[in-house]
Amino acid sequence: MIGRLNHVAIAVKDLDAGARIYRDTLGATLSPPLPQPEHGVTVIFVELPNSKIELLEPLGEGSPITAFLERNPGGGIHHVCYEVDDILAARDRLVAQGARILGSGEPKIGAHGKPVLFLHPKDFLGTLVELEQV
Ligand code: CO
Repeated sequence: MIGRLNHVAIAVKDLDAGARIYRDTLGATLSPPLPQPEHGVTVIFVELPNSKIELLEPLGEGSPITAFLERNPGGGIHHVCYEVDDILAARDRLVAQGARILGSGEPKIGAHGKPVLFLHPKDFLGTLVELEQV
């Protein structure tokens, strides 16, 4: 059911410091910081030949990554995103198997303008999983 790894998201307190590590130390190609107020984050996309890393910094009050950064003050992997062809079919199959979908259970338009869902980390080996329809 799941296809390509679309991205791995890493939450950071300081986007500039995170960008320096990926650009200067690891030699990656980075996008400029992109504020996404509707998602409560500012994002830098790290382009890799076969996938992407997204560096996420909290933006505004009530950012969805604030609690994660309180638990992980040095930053950390926040979620992984897998591509699916049909997000509603994927959701229905997962729900039928007892998996929990976060929020209303209805797909939202994610950071790339595509429908996304998040799956409960307790059902997926302690990892928050994002599904994105491509
Ligand atoms: Co994501």
